[in-house]
Amino acid sequence: MRLSAVFVGLAAVLSSVLAQSSTADSYIATESPIAKAGLIANIGPSGAKASGAKAGVVIASPSTTSPDYLYTWVRDSSLVFKAIIDQYTAGADTTTRSLIDAFVTAEGTLQQVTNPSGSVSSGGLGEPKFNIDESAFTGAWGRPQRDGPALRSTAIINYANWLIANGNSSWVTKNLWPIIKLDLDYVSSNWNQTTFDLWEEVSSSSFFTTAVQHRSLREGAALATAIGQTSVVSGYTTQANNLLCFLQSYWNPTSGYITANTGGGRSGKDANTVLTSIHTFDPAAGCDATTFQPCSDKALSNLKVYVDSFRSIYTINSGIASNAAVATGRYPEDSYYNGNPWYLATFAVAEQLYDALITWNQIGSLNVTATSLPFFQQFSSSVTAGTYPSTSTTFTTLTAAIKTFADGFLAINAKYTPSNGGLSEQYSKADGTPTSAVDLTWSYAAALTAFEARAGFTAPSWGAAGLTVPSTCSSGGSGSSGSTVAVTFNVAATTVYGENIYITGSVDALQNWSPSNALLLSSANYPTWSITVNLPASTAIQYKYIRINNGAVTWESDPNMQITTPASGTYTENDTWR
Ligand SMILES: *[C@@H]1O[C@H](CO)[C@@H](O)[C@H](O)[C@H]1NC(C)=O
Ligand SMILES: *[C@@H]1O[C@H](CO)[C@@H](O)[C@H](O)[C@H]1NC(C)=O
Ligand SMILES: *[C@@H]1O[C@H](CO)[C@@H](O)[C@H](O)[C@H]1NC(C)=O
Ligand SMILES: *[C@@H]1O[C@H](CO)[C@@H](O)[C@H](O)[C@H]1NC(C)=O
Repeated sequence: MRLSAVFVGLAAVLSSVLAQSSTADSYIATESPIAKAGLIANIGPSGAKASGAKAGVVIASPSTTSPDYLYTWVRDSSLVFKAIIDQYTAGADTTTRSLIDAFVTAEGTLQQVTNPSGSVSSGGLGEPKFNIDESAFTGAWGRPQRDGPALRSTAIINYANWLIANGNSSWVTKNLWPIIKLDLDYVSSNWNQTTFDLWEEVSSSSFFTTAVQHRSLREGAALATAIGQTSVVSGYTTQANNLLCFLQSYWNPTSGYITANTGGGRSGKDANTVLTSIHTFDPAAGCDATTFQPCSDKALSNLKVYVDSFRSIYTINSGIASNAAVATGRYPEDSYYNGNPWYLATFAVAEQLYDALITWNQIGSLNVTATSLPFFQQFSSSVTAGTYPSTSTTFTTLTAAIKTFADGFLAINAKYTPSNGGLSEQYSKADGTPTSAVDLTWSYAAALTAFEARAGFTAPSWGAAGLTVPSTCSSGGSGSSGSTVAVTFNVAATTVYGENIYITGSVDALQNWSPSNALLLSSANYPTWSITVNLPASTAIQYKYIRINNGAVTWESDPNMQITTPASGTYTENDTWR
């Protein structure tokens, strides 16, 4: 190659790097205040687009038709307020204190609202969404969603930690801890039950849910210690260890990615995993793969597989180089609104990469492993596994290319952001036109946290550093260590001749929801039917009675019944057929 050709090549590379970076700079300059204002506009009672929402209630979007999102979701609200709280506690925005206090009060109210998932003490904390006047939403829905209590407690714990550091522990103990404890107790006793995933479609176990549950119990145990609530510490820590163990099982070593859900019948490539990486980022945990930190080899390998799954399925991604940024969506099989890119998914990719850059720069080195090699080869085909200190050319080359790659994802969202800066939920895979709900609060929060990560901002550590995965995974309470209690179920049920009452439920001893293997109750005290079963101690167990007549099965109406078994002794449950 002639020298002049080298210069032309270099100049082209340089100008593309500068173009990505200046597009990102100018997008951030214009979009940042719009996103901030858009987010505040969606919070009651005085948000410009949140009329009718109670104080501290976050609406998902002001859209009331196609789709109707004028509800408040525990997940979205908690992620939004985590972002607000992180900025408040860092001193970056001190105007939001009263909003934060209103959020805490609103969530404390919602916890007590009996809803189709149950009451505050019988599973109601798993309810995903409520009306914006804080009443229960009673329509059919994918429930429960067990990430909500975890994300809510994480947001409030971060506020609590700041209050303690600023001499206001009494407020924490009196006003925040009761709310946090309800959520953490729920997580602690229910994490091993199936859940709908964050997209509200698949009922199984879900990586995002497991990971945020793990995080919440870790920081919950630390907070409890700090304020002298020591009775819960060992229970939360035990379940956090069980969760960390279970978390490892989502990794697919053959294909190098994290399978998002244990059910659902899909590839498992899903923004679920990228969102997990950014929402469980701990700047003190280095590139630890046990918690899938953003710069861990597993999370980077996963990121490449996830991003690549959208290259050929969206028309707007065609013609883009195979190592450059593209628009990404929830999962490649998505058919909601025809299956499109989402702003928050594409922002999340950028954020994971910025988080990784923060960590590498802080540690002063970068590792390429056999697992992360395909990710790094996108930026340098000749790179090999090894450790590269920040003084090496390889480190400089790779981190510069990764920064450009990350800025590319912002540039993609910038390209498809309308001129007024409004961020809807999705944009068309065919031509980039915004679609689905307008002014999605989560889209605005995702923009802001990605921009902050690019600027080097990190939220406080949550205790992910140096964790050890237990050598064997346990499924939960002391029941899993073998102790059981005798539980008698009595149900008043009138039956016709030939009809019998059975029970099945969420644990092995209740035949894991199998109607064909359900346990027959005795009619010796008809119309009360009874059975005594040994069930795991200290465990939340769901069940239903069923009637079987000549092979025809009739289930009780929803929701599931739930009991939490005692640590020892016996327990008698008295029900009436529903
Ligand atoms: C503690 O924080 C609460 C909530 O913001 C506030 O109302 C109260 O005045 C604070 N107390 C002190 C002593 O700062
Ligand atoms: C790189 O790997 C070494 C050895 O496994 C480890 O001690 C170090 O923390 C790793 N550094 C990064 C940035 O991952
Ligand atoms: C419960 O935990 C065990 C042990 O980690 C795991 O194998 C199982 O899949 C978990 N089930 C759910 C629904 O989380
Ligand atoms: C069910 O009834 C029995 C006998 O009346 C009583 O001892 C027991 O406490 C009741 N169980 C519950 C959960 O109320």
